[in-house]
Amino acid sequence: MSTQSTMNGDTAESGYPHVPKYFFPTQQIPKLSCNDPLADELISQEKPVVLTDTKLCESALKWDLDYLANNMGNERYMVFVSQNNRFKYYDEAKMKQYRINFNPPTRRVDMTFTEFVKKLREWKPGDERVYLQQGLNNTFGRGIVLDFLQFNWQWLNVQQKKHNWGPLTSNLLLVGMESNITPVHYDEQQNFFCQLIGKKRCILFAPEHYERLYPHPVYHPHDRQSQVDFDMPDLEKFPGLDQLQGWETVIGPGEVLYIPMYWWHHIESLPNLGHTVSVNFWYKGGPTESVEYPLKPRQKLAIMRNVEKMLLEALKDPGEVGPLLRSLVLGRYSGEDALKEEGNL
Ligand code: FUM
Ligand code: FE
Repeated sequence: MSTQSTMNGDTAESGYPHVPKYFFPTQQIPKLSCNDPLADELISQEKPVVLTDTKLCESALKWDLDYLANNMGNERYMVFVSQNNRFKYYDEAKMKQYRINFNPPTRRVDMTFTEFVKKLREWKPGDERVYLQQGLNNTFGRGIVLDFLQFNWQWLNVQQKKHNWGPLTSNLLLVGMESNITPVHYDEQQNFFCQLIGKKRCILFAPEHYERLYPHPVYHPHDRQSQVDFDMPDLEKFPGLDQLQGWETVIGPGEVLYIPMYWWHHIESLPNLGHTVSVNFWYKGGPTESVEYPLKPRQKLAIMRNVEKMLLEALKDPGEVGPLLRSLVLGRYSGEDALKEEGNL
C-alpha cells in the first residue's frame, strides 16, 4: 500500500487534518501482534514494525500531565525551547570542541515539571514551544519508579536475547506539545519506541537513503541529522531527494514502534490531545556478526562514519576534512564510469 504525498494536502491513511504532506511517497509500516512470527522476522532483519500488544508500558498508560506532575518529583528536567515547531537535536560537546560557527536552533532550559506544564498549557500561537526530553533516572518520584518496575521487562529481555542485542543503555521520557516535530535523523542504537499518551506520526527511511538525506558531517553539532528541510526541500542542492521513499505509521497509546539502528526517522506529535507522552528503550547493537559480502547498507554507513572520524582525528581541523576528501575522490573515484574506462568492469 503506497501513499503518494504531495506538498499540499494530507495522506489519506493518516486521517488527521493538520498533518503536513511531504514531497516523497511512503508505504505503511506493518502493525502486528508481538506473537506473530512475521514481527520477529522483521525485527531480526532490522526492519521497522509496530507491535500492538506487547503490554510493555501498561503501567505507564496513565502518565498524563497531572499524574506526571504529581509523581515526577521536584528536580529540574531537560526541556528544549524552540521558536518554531522543529526540535533539531545538536550535540553541545561538539559545539564546544570544534568551535565552528553554529547557532543552535533550540535552547535547553532545565525546569521543574510544574513549570513545564504551565508553559505547555498556557501556550498560544506565537509563543515559544517546549519539548521535555529527560532520561528516566533514580531522581524520579516513587510512583514513577514503581510504574517503571512494572514494565514488561520479561518481554524485553526475551527480545534482547533473541535478536542478540547489547545492553539497554537508557530510557528517554518525551513529553511534547501537539505539532512538535523531531526532524529526520538516525541513531546508532536499536530503539523500542513506546507511545503512552496521544498519537505520533513516524516517518522512517532505510539506511540506504544516506545518499538521499545528506547528513551533516560527523564533526558538526548536527551529526546524524539530515541537512534537508522537509518543508522546504532544496532539490538543486540535494538532487537525491527526488528518489526518496519512506515508511510511515501513526502510533497511539500502548503501541511500540521498533526503530532499527541507523534507520532515519522523523517524528511528529499529532494534534488530538494537545500533547504527547512517549518512552523509548535504547539498546546497543549486538557484537559484530559474521561478515558477509556485499556489506549491508548500515555497515557501509558505519564505515563512512569511521572514515570521517579518522580523518578528523588525524587532521584535527574540521575545515581540512572536506578538501582532503575532495582531492581523494575528484577525477579519480568521482566519474561513474571510472572503473569501466579502466576496463575493470
Ligand atoms: O520526538 C520524538 O519522539 C523523537 C524520538 C527519537 O528520535 O527517537
Ligand atoms: Fe531518534
